Amino acid sequence: GGAPIEVTIMVTSMMGGKAMGVDDFGSGGRGRGVLKCGNMSFDRPLDLVERPRRLRRTASLRRMVQETVLRPADFIAPLFVIDGKGAPQPIKSMPGVFRYNVKDLIKECRALHKLGVPAVALFPKLAAKFKDAGGTHALDEDGLILRAVAAVKSAVPELTVITDVALDPYTTHGHDGVLTESGDDVDNDRSVAILSEMALLQAEAGVDIVAPSDMMDGRIAAIRETFDDAGQTDTAIMAYSAKFNSAYYGPFRDAVGSSQAAGTRLLSKATYQLDPANRRQAINEAALDEDEGADFIMVKPAGAYLDIIRDVRERTGKPVAAYQVSGEYAQIQAAAKLGWLDLEKCRHESLLAIKRAGADMILTYFAKDMAKLLG
Ligand code: PBG
Repeated sequence: GGAPIEVTIMVTSMMGGKAMGVDDFGSGGRGRGVLKCGNMSFDRPLDLVERPRRLRRTASLRRMVQETVLRPADFIAPLFVIDGKGAPQPIKSMPGVFRYNVKDLIKECRALHKLGVPAVALFPKLAAKFKDAGGTHALDEDGLILRAVAAVKSAVPELTVITDVALDPYTTHGHDGVLTESGDDVDNDRSVAILSEMALLQAEAGVDIVAPSDMMDGRIAAIRETFDDAGQTDTAIMAYSAKFNSAYYGPFRDAVGSSQAAGTRLLSKATYQLDPANRRQAINEAALDEDEGADFIMVKPAGAYLDIIRDVRERTGKPVAAYQVSGEYAQIQAAAKLGWLDLEKCRHESLLAIKRAGADMILTYFAKDMAKLLG
């Protein structure tokens, strides 16, 4: 046994029952008193060299020492595009997110640009008649996404436009590539050839960045080579490098209509997307894509993979993007709707955490709301 412990603290005027605002802490009358608590008596301040709470005392101090700050330029808005002239279509599992026809898409892009959002990522939702097993409509020179890119770039040239390179909106089976002869798996090399052609059409339509989200091996090198051979040396590649086989993509698959694999078994992308259990494989994928010529490295989803964002951030000199995916958005929205979480606060905290983990930019369905708030 040792000597009895005597602990002393300073007793602030709060003890006197005076109501104080948060900002009054420590500045209001500091009374000293003796507080008996069991065997301990408190009549002197603790002998502490560091009192971290000193820097949390007032709102201005807290602002001064804030290490991570969100700004509109941090965000990329994913947008869904449809053909025709119809009204914006709400997506049930993503409240506040709509599919826009090209004309409304331009309006939305103008608004985002005005709010300081630097980039949009476009995803098409196609009618069933444009889907087949080979995803052939992805190479249609009059395809929806190519028209959308041209329209946005001519209406809002300063806005950076990103397009998705993957076949899932175009295939009846919903996979990101074409299937092997047996139909059991996605054929890597044939898919890469198609995706390279698809990316070139997008580059020629004027897109600033292509974003291959297919997770085929070797696609970054193939696309870079295709671009350079065609003289499209200025089109950048944002590689979905560490893209996990995630259940958080559910609402997105509703949005682009890729969840129902017509007539086939349930869609599993486990043979190409990363196993959520695997950190070393994710780091390896990022290194491969960097070597193959990626200009940006992406981690996706974001919130459940903050460790991967940090790992990639520490290993690459390239800008790191993170995608706060549809399911991350949906879960915050759903809990808020039930009154279980505060929407604005959770939204902010979730994005702050992604940036703090090391993301330079965040694809998020909250982009517009955040830009409005921060602008
Ligand atoms: C597919 C693709 C997906 C997302 C972006 N591109 C889903 C998938 O892999 O099935 C998900 C985005 C989100 O959930 O918000 N190429």
